[in-house]
Amino acid sequence: MTQSALNKSASKALELFNKEDWASSYCNVEKELSNIELKIVSGEVPRELSGVFYRNGPGRLERNGQWVHHPFDGDGMVVSMQFENGEVRFSNRFVRTKEWEEEEKAGKFLYRGVFGTQKRGGLLANAFDLRLKNIANTNVVKLGNELLALWEASSPYALNPQTLETYGISNLKGVLEPGEAFSAHPRFDPGHYGASRMVTFGVNTGPKSTIRLMEFDNDGKLISERKDRFDGFAFLHDFAITPNWSLFLQNAISFNPLPFLIGQRSAAQCLTSNPGKQSKLWLIPREGGSYSGQSPRILNAPEGFVFHHLNAWEEGSEIILESIYYKDFPSIKPNEDFRQISFENIPEGILKRCRFNLDTQNIKIKTLSNQCCEFAMVNPNFQGIRAEYSWMATAENEIGNAPLQAIKKLNLSNGKKYSWSAFPRGFVSEPLMIPSRTSNSEDDGWIVVLVWNSERVASDLVILKANTLDEQARLELPIGIPHGLHGSWAG
Ligand code: CO
Repeated sequence: MTQSALNKSASKALELFNKEDWASSYCNVEKELSNIELKIVSGEVPRELSGVFYRNGPGRLERNGQWVHHPFDGDGMVVSMQFENGEVRFSNRFVRTKEWEEEEKAGKFLYRGVFGTQKRGGLLANAFDLRLKNIANTNVVKLGNELLALWEASSPYALNPQTLETYGISNLKGVLEPGEAFSAHPRFDPGHYGASRMVTFGVNTGPKSTIRLMEFDNDGKLISERKDRFDGFAFLHDFAITPNWSLFLQNAISFNPLPFLIGQRSAAQCLTSNPGKQSKLWLIPREGGSYSGQSPRILNAPEGFVFHHLNAWEEGSEIILESIYYKDFPSIKPNEDFRQISFENIPEGILKRCRFNLDTQNIKIKTLSNQCCEFAMVNPNFQGIRAEYSWMATAENEIGNAPLQAIKKLNLSNGKKYSWSAFPRGFVSEPLMIPSRTSNSEDDGWIVVLVWNSERVASDLVILKANTLDEQARLELPIGIPHGLHGSWAG
């Protein structure tokens, strides 16, 4: 295709969705529901699906007429959908963070947000106010008996896994210092060393960055940890694991804190891409692996900005890392309204595979798909080893940036794909792949996904067959859930 044909096709894609439909998802969640049976509007809920689908995301986006500057600044609201005997029961609760309670009482924003929300009162009110609000809105995972609402810049909040009631900040049985950073992107090792483990990290960044790598057993007990120090600022939202390594991609971006200190900009708005700077891959050996106890390895990495990785594995002297790359760091400028953003001015996420050779330092890059995508995952049993398939949220069209409206299954070897679409009036969130309990085929199982149904101005729970993406069932939620972030399945 020529460049002009590509441009034409891209702008055609942008005409096809209605931005008001997309933005209609961004409203405050006014109700908290407990254990409501969801109405099945088509198909059947597989009886094999027994467990809880948890999701987290912003649920409060406006107070006293003031909107957050970026939806990532919205207070965390956790949703649970309990699958049992072909029925699904729904609950939702805001995470009662200290700051949420204070702002509820005051009826207005009292804290600045990392992504640009300022307190009222302009520069003077915001200057030198470095208190960050722990909004506990990024992910929700079960560890031992606790359900943890995660936000990467501070400690997790523990919730009751059944009622979603907030217990309070958790230090994970004494593991975390007060306020210590704890990633919102744990990885679940399916059992490379016997039993499964949760592997995660916390990062403390500045001119130098310290990563604390932690591994927990299924009861939530810390079984290993190490701390490593690296040169340079690091924005590390996600990471990847193999049996021997944990992988951190240091994006080539800079942080200039001055506009944040003087109250002009939020912390995230002080990140700027730095094309002249070299991205790095930091490899930290995992305990129990072949390089246990050794120093980290540092390799050059390709250009581009990465939030999320798909998977990683080892092949001889090569480490392979699959990630979603953006040409630039996407941010919302101080005078922009996030509900009015122009998708065409923001780079789309493209899935790429990078082979890093530990001996020669050589990198080979392959684009796996040119279609705008986010929230990609493999069958969880293939975390850290080579997987044939992945599932992800994509735009409706093949090229150009647009909202996520479809689910795609991609064969990572031959590019063959299946898709299911909520287009034109539906908008998808992160899909979760739940492997079948009765089949050993990698792509047998189910996909669960929350879909914003702009026709109904509410959310639907959609269940797909993982292998063909045929629609298995659709259930209606009695409320709308704003476009959210991450979630997990507790079987
Ligand atoms: Co994320």
